[in-house]
Order: sequence, then C-alpha cells, then structure tokens
Amino acid sequence: MTHSSNTVQDNRISLLGLGPMGLALGGALLKQGHCLTVWNRTPDRADELVVQGAQRARTVAEAATASTITIVCLNDYTTIYRVLDRAAAELEGKVLVNLSSGAPSEARAALAWSAERGIDYLEGAIMVPPPLVGEPGAVILYSGDQGVFDRHRTTLAGLGDPRYLGADIGLAVLYNTALLEMMYATINGWLHASALLDSANVSAQKFAELALGWFMPTVVDYASLAEQAPDLDAADYPGDLGTLAMNLNALEHITRASEEQGVHSDHPRLMKELAERAVAEGHGSQNYFAIYELFKKASPRS
Ligand SMILES: NC(=O)c1ccc[n+]([C@@H]2O[C@H](COP(=O)([O-])OP(=O)(O)OC[C@H]3O[C@@H](n4cnc5c(N)ncnc54)[C@H](OP(=O)(O)O)[C@@H]3O)[C@@H](O)[C@H]2O)c1
Repeated sequence: MTHSSNTVQDNRISLLGLGPMGLALGGALLKQGHCLTVWNRTPDRADELVVQGAQRARTVAEAATASTITIVCLNDYTTIYRVLDRAAAELEGKVLVNLSSGAPSEARAALAWSAERGIDYLEGAIMVPPPLVGEPGAVILYSGDQGVFDRHRTTLAGLGDPRYLGADIGLAVLYNTALLEMMYATINGWLHASALLDSANVSAQKFAELALGWFMPTVVDYASLAEQAPDLDAADYPGDLGTLAMNLNALEHITRASEEQGVHSDHPRLMKELAERAVAEGHGSQNYFAIYELFKKASPRS
C-alpha cells in the first residue's frame, strides 16, 4: 500500500511521544525547518519544543490530522496501540513511522494493524542516544515498503543517516537487537576481564592500556572479523592455525582463574559450556568460529 506522495505537505510532521528520545527527534526536526506538531500524554513535556516553534496538539487525533507523516516514539507497543487507537481514522492514507523499540513479532503485528486501517507503516530503530540524534554519524535503521521509504528518505535523513534494510518489516528491530547484543557482549567481556585484574589490585585504568590500547585492536581486530565473515556464510572453519578444542582449554583456564581469584565465574563458564557442546557436536578440530553452527540453532532449553 502506498498512499502518500512527496509533496510540499511532507514538510509537516507530527510526533507522538516526548520522552528523552522524542524530545531529541523533535529538536532535530525543528532544526531541519519542519513544521512540527507534537503530542505527549504529559503535555508540559512539549514546552521547550513549543518555544522553538512546534505546535502543541491537544489530542492524538489533532496531531495525526496536522501532517502526512506521523512519527511515534513511545515506551512500548502496548502504549503505541493505546495512543494510536484514538487516531486511526485521521491516519488513514498517511504514513506512520514507528521509532519505538520492540521485537520483530511486534513490528509485524503493527504492520498488520496499519494495513487494516489503510496506513503506510515503516519500522525504524534509532541506533544512537538522544544527544546524537540529527548529528553527523547518527544512524537510524528502517524496514518496510521501499516505495514509502524512498519517498520520505530526505525527511528521515534529518534525524540521522537513514539505512534501508529491506521489505521484511521485522528487519530494523532485528538488526537493532543484534547490534545491542554485540555491544553488551563486548562491554561485558571488558568488565569481567577488568574484574579478574582487579582481584590482583590492578586498576581498570592500567589494564585498559594493554586490553583496549593493544589487545582488542590488534588481536580481536574488527577488520579481520569482517574479512572472515564470508567463511561464516560458507560454514568453512579450517582448524590449521588453532582448533576449537584448543580454545576450550583457554575457556577452562579463564573459568578456573575466575574461581581461584574469587570473581564471578558464570560468564566464562557459559562460554566454556558452549565450546564443550560444539566439541561434542563434532566441531573440535575446526577453528573457534565453528561455534557459529551452535548459535544458529535454538538452544536445547528454549
Ligand atoms: N533514550 C534512548 O537512549 C533511546 C535510544 C534508542 C531508542 N530509544 C527508544 O525510543 C523510545 C522512547 O524512549 P525514551 O527514551 O524517549 O523514553 P521511554 O521512557 O521509553 O518513553 C517515554 C514516552 O512514552 C510515553 N508513555 C509511557 N507510558 C505511556 C502511556 N501509558 N500512555 C501514553 N504515553 C506513555 C511517555 O509519556 P509521558 O511523558 O507522559 O510519561 C513518553 O512520551 C523507546 O522505545 C526506546 O527504546 C531510546
């Protein structure tokens, strides 16, 4: 379904939700010269944007009526439906861009909800904190109908580099969760390793010189991980430079050292158990990346 056209009316944008992220989106849209209408459950949160030139809508329906594009940035999908149910008629034939976080199944349900009401729906995922919205380097991921995305790309670019991922509506939030998983796993690795050194009274600041200044960029080296990505796609894990069985030894040492030093040992133990399972499944003579074959399957207890 593709109702909207790229007309001068697209300069009008409505924004529902003025938490920290909604306020940042509103500020960036005003800076871009858009005619912005805002609505928030707690109306006072709009005060600063109103001073900067935004119109305050008294109702969700009033906000949806004011523009051809409505951006929604609320805490969750339950709230989104609670809010949008009051303006479904006003949104008909227009574009709804959801920049609230969720799961792929929620994005699919929201697409179906929108389609039933004649609304063009795009799903987005904001990959930066509020102060970086609209700034160089900000990226926002989108998925859904490419025609709708293309027509509004210029408008969306004011919030951050808009990266279109595909027609599958769940892709934006799936990328979002995958990237956040990488962030948490990396940060947890650094924090747990620092705790190990802290047990010998080595400060995180001192450890950072070696760990973050040399080890991560040289030995983990993201460019080299990217070079090896095709091997994951081809399930090609030659073990000639080191095997998963050898890496299991290292993971046993990390788990034991954590226990001996009196620091939390669940994190290395989980990595050790995963490597044990991969070895049990016959990947012991391949390299460590063969653990990817385990990750691609649902875990036994789920
Ligand atoms: N902040 C970040 O760093 C960040 C980064 C990336 C993505 N995001 C995503 O952006 C979305 C918004 O985040 P946020 O940081 O702005 O704060 P948030 O706490 O997730 O959402 C606050 C917004 O939700 C509204 N709200 C909550 N319950 C409501 C209800 N029952 N009825 C109506 N409105 C309700 C709040 O209204 P009131 O003002 O009236 O309470 C406010 O507008 C979230 O999905 C978040 O995951 C945030």
